[in-house]
Amino acid sequence: MKALILCGGKGTRLRPLTHTMAKQLIPVANKPIIQIVIEQVRDAGISDIGIVISPETGEQVRKAIGNGARWDATINYILQNEPGGLAHAVKSARLFLEDYPFLMFLGDNLIQGGVSQSVKDFNNSSNEAMIHLKEVANPCQFGVAVLGDNKQVVRLIEKPAEPPSNLAMVGIYLFRPAIHSAIDRIKPSWRGELEITDAIQAMIESGNPVEAKILEGWWLDTGKKDDILEANRVVLDEYTRPVCNGQVDQNSRVVGRVAIGSGSKVVNSVIRGPAVIGENVMIEDSFIGPYTALGNKSVLENVSIEHSVVLNNCFLKDVERIEDSLIGNNTRVSRVMDQRKAVRIFLGDDSEVLI
Ligand code: DAU
Repeated sequence: MKALILCGGKGTRLRPLTHTMAKQLIPVANKPIIQIVIEQVRDAGISDIGIVISPETGEQVRKAIGNGARWDATINYILQNEPGGLAHAVKSARLFLEDYPFLMFLGDNLIQGGVSQSVKDFNNSSNEAMIHLKEVANPCQFGVAVLGDNKQVVRLIEKPAEPPSNLAMVGIYLFRPAIHSAIDRIKPSWRGELEITDAIQAMIESGNPVEAKILEGWWLDTGKKDDILEANRVVLDEYTRPVCNGQVDQNSRVVGRVAIGSGSKVVNSVIRGPAVIGENVMIEDSFIGPYTALGNKSVLENVSIEHSVVLNNCFLKDVERIEDSLIGNNTRVSRVMDQRKAVRIFLGDDSEVLI
């Protein structure tokens, strides 16, 4: 079996971060999301991996992930010339996929417990496709499934205005080669994309049984800022182990599950886990609260921060309380001590500031 991980698309909902970085490279708990996806694919025993990339961010993904050797896997990069939809991405990867069965994993989706069991179940079945579903409160933002009496998939609709069920399609699919001819039969949707949902619906209509697995554990679709914060919270909660490779002075307290990277220094501060601090981070006179991930090489002085993700090389000073925030690389946030109560800002396109 092969795996196809999708890292194309535009990531417009995560601007401004995605002006300069692929959304699948945004870290949760200091690890790029796509890296967690690759680990789950490897844990399921698949080592022949194709990653679909876009012309805009493909080089960046390739540079960050490499040839797969560190996971004992082979990674091929497949250029999708335009974000023509998930089925278009599969079409672009036709040569790589040959007629192998494959696991398709959207590079911005994460699920609890990985995909090993699904891969095993699919290998033991003769169905042409398996999809994963999760009950959600807002089904109209996803592909939605209708199941029959014996749990077979009867109908699939992409982002319906009036959802016929609350079962959302998770971005993890298993296919046998019948998917390719189904993709050839579909037309672009109202949003101008070749939808994988429509292709699976076409398979059902031509008599191919499609199996559904309903997920019990968490599912994270990291499409927007709050989704990234939620993914960061869930992943920190589940995976953080206390480890200190840096220095913590006598006036500081590190409470709960906190991982501190090498070269980092904590002076006269409190860190309350679960939290992860990268390498060469300087924290002084500060409070780092639960569900915070600080990347590498940042400096925090007299700051209180929690439930936030800070990328690399940031400078935060004299800010009383930062919460629910996602802060990109090389950002400076500080308070100016003068009489005027003015806010002075220098922000990139598509930024958001809540004061
Ligand atoms: O997250 C689950 C949802 O993913 C499903 O419920 C929907 O049925 C499915 O269509 C998809 O919907 P989204 O609108 O959330 O997909 P999005 O455009 O965000 O793309 C998902 C991933 O696939 C993302 O990592 C980028 C990548 N992608 C996307 C497009 C449109 C590509 O690689 N190529 C593309 O052409």
